[in-house]
Amino acid sequence: MQSVQGTYNDKVVHQFAVATVFWGIVGMAVGVLCAAQLYWPALNFDIPWLTYSRLRPLHTNGVIFAFGGSVLFATSLYVVQRTCHVRLISDKLAAFVFWGWQAAMVGAVITLPMGITQSKEYAELEWPLDVLITIVWVAYGWLFFRTIAKRKVKHIYVANWFYGAYIIGVGLLHVVNNMVMPAGLWKSYSLYSGAVDAMAQWWYGHNAVAFLLTVGYLAMMYYFVPKQAQRPIYSYRLSIVHFWALISIYMWAGPHHLHYTALPDWAQSVGMVFSVILLAPSWGGAMNGILTLSGVWHKLRTDPILKFLIVAISFYMIATFEGPMLSIKTVNSLSHYTDWTVGHVHAGTLGWVAMISIGSLYSLYPRLLGLQGMYSTKLIDVHFWLHTIGVVFYIVSMWIAGITQGLMWRATNSDGTLTYTFVESLVSTYPYYLGRLLGGLMILAGMCLMGWHMWKTRQQVRGLAEQPVMAPDTANAEV
Ligand code: HEM
Ligand code: HEM
Repeated sequence: MQSVQGTYNDKVVHQFAVATVFWGIVGMAVGVLCAAQLYWPALNFDIPWLTYSRLRPLHTNGVIFAFGGSVLFATSLYVVQRTCHVRLISDKLAAFVFWGWQAAMVGAVITLPMGITQSKEYAELEWPLDVLITIVWVAYGWLFFRTIAKRKVKHIYVANWFYGAYIIGVGLLHVVNNMVMPAGLWKSYSLYSGAVDAMAQWWYGHNAVAFLLTVGYLAMMYYFVPKQAQRPIYSYRLSIVHFWALISIYMWAGPHHLHYTALPDWAQSVGMVFSVILLAPSWGGAMNGILTLSGVWHKLRTDPILKFLIVAISFYMIATFEGPMLSIKTVNSLSHYTDWTVGHVHAGTLGWVAMISIGSLYSLYPRLLGLQGMYSTKLIDVHFWLHTIGVVFYIVSMWIAGITQGLMWRATNSDGTLTYTFVESLVSTYPYYLGRLLGGLMILAGMCLMGWHMWKTRQQVRGLAEQPVMAPDTANAEV
């Protein structure tokens, strides 16, 4: 790409942007297959590596680390250069981060279907891949923070604070939770045991949600919403309060994943209290994003990228209202083990994470190529509706299924026996599994459309290059 030689290193941003869509399609296709298997179990064809137990972690790793990770790399490396007015410190290190991360993700795609796993949710990858991830992550941190240190402006824009916290937070979580004793190349045992192991795991699990699936994407919100709306952020002061409040509260909420377990009762209550408090900074930050549109609400009518970004923040508000509610012990006694949790997860991941990512990429991609916009605004709009309707189908189906399951499982007759058998609750869940599958197919179709759309947009640059007069490279002129 032309701009690699220019002011900024956009090659690595472009690579990660393409990787995001690629892994998005792969990870969501596996999610759709999981959803289909829950409706038609025979879809595993009795092949071990197609069994649900192996495909489910493949889905979660694919969407969280390959799709979600790639978009965080793409946008953080784009934003840090623009806001610091400086090129990344090293092109070679940037290339190492890209290829190192892709190698780890390919490792996940090979080992997880083979049944190689540490059996810790979201930390399934075995120790050789964990070591690779650690090395890549340290290189990434060095690249990011050294670039900030080299900046030409005094100020550090708030998006970089959020990206910085996510990089430090995820590094810390990954190392602490993956402390293991290897027992061969593809087998290891955790250094922790019993309730301590569970606590370390859910300290990790919850903060992976906090620092990877939330803080990093809030950084995107703070850069791309003002950029796309062409308005300054609603309140810069609020963004700083938002940052410190989230960072100091999130770390304590993990025990809400372990209600009614062997974890000491007081620890469960601490988790619950901090989770309820989290509602305030979460909604405060979300309002800061949404109110950035004050005075230009009309743009929502014509700009589907803004629609992606603003609807993403709305889903963030839904997930961060629902989360504190689910963390209250009495509510959790109904919701835990049911599909209500899965509905909450996908309101957060498909509604918030995927939509803010997709909106940011549609905003970033043409700028990267020096174009005024994507190939077709209409296609972005079609994608917006496919995704939004798909998410609504998904989460509403899971809410109904989950609450039905919870109520059926706890129903008792006057003599104390259970009113329903487990199979009866499963049968009443089936129609909603079909609803989720339909929603998933719509979302997947939207991602495929996005891939094709990016390719068409890239073609335009090739078309311009073949013309006698070159189009000016506006990408590097932008801050
Ligand atoms: C087409 C889109 C998607 C479909 C059809 C889909 C489907 C599924 C299915 C069927 C499950 C298993 C639920 C269960 O075991 O009962 C699941 C779990 C999960 N998915 Fe997705 N998914 C999609 C997109 C995503 C995305 C984009 C993310 C993250 C960025 C994500 C994150 C997760 C997580 C974290 C879980 C585990 C939930 C838990 O343990 O409670 N999914 N998904
Ligand atoms: C104020 C913010 C939030 C709080 C207090 C919160 C709280 C909770 C609670 C109580 C559970 C259920 C635990 C259980 O019964 O096992 C849960 C599950 C989950 N939440 Fe949230 N949530 C919040 C926001 C989010 C967001 C924004 C996302 C995604 C971007 C998310 C992703 C998840 C995931 C992936 C799980 C499933 C974990 C598992 O069991 O595998 N949460 N959350």
